[in-house]
Amino acid sequence: MSNVSLSINGIQYEVPSNLTVLEAARTVGIDIPTLCFLKDINEVGACRVCVVEVEGARALQASCVLPVRDGMVVNTNNTRVRKARKNTVELLLANHNRECTTCVRSKNCELQSLSEELSIRTIPFEGEKRIPSFDDLSPSIVRDSSKCILCGRCVSACKNVQGIGILEFLNRGFKTTVGPAFEMSMRDVPCIYCGQCMVTCPVGALTEKSAIHKVWEVLEDKSKHV
Ligand code: FES
Repeated sequence: MSNVSLSINGIQYEVPSNLTVLEAARTVGIDIPTLCFLKDINEVGACRVCVVEVEGARALQASCVLPVRDGMVVNTNNTRVRKARKNTVELLLANHNRECTTCVRSKNCELQSLSEELSIRTIPFEGEKRIPSFDDLSPSIVRDSSKCILCGRCVSACKNVQGIGILEFLNRGFKTTVGPAFEMSMRDVPCIYCGQCMVTCPVGALTEKSAIHKVWEVLEDKSKHV
């Protein structure tokens, strides 16, 4: 494998030519935050959290899908880049169910950690929110679209890793959501309950049905027959 020479944050590095800028940066110990990226599973450049500035390019570039090239001059952490990342996360939070204290993923949520890392204290983009859907009919998986950030990790894991493909992007534009076709319940599609969608979800949009949830279901069911 040949090497290329590129500058990252003013320092010259030699890295293998088959890397992306994200991989090259991480190889030399420079951290670039990511949200939708999942190595070998979801490399789609959807969230734009990993943007970097590349000399000669007008727009910021998503480093997770940007191949390195010889002579590249990259800046991963200047004011423009940090502001763009912060704005991106603020926009995600504007359309996100922020009841973190009651979310099972609280303190284990990539969006929450990133918000803390970027010192986000207020959401300047309050506006219309998607109409959420909630599905807890499956025996083991709870889907809450009000927390989904449309990263596509669960779609890739379900389709490309497990070969099942019951999770899809549905609708278009502002109404885009993720779930089984025709917004069917996870109970009514051939889900094998492998749990890979929950493992790859960076937030609380796909979570395991808790034992207490199941107990309540049984009790509710019994009370109907008293
Ligand atoms: Fe690169 Fe989402 S992590 S675009």
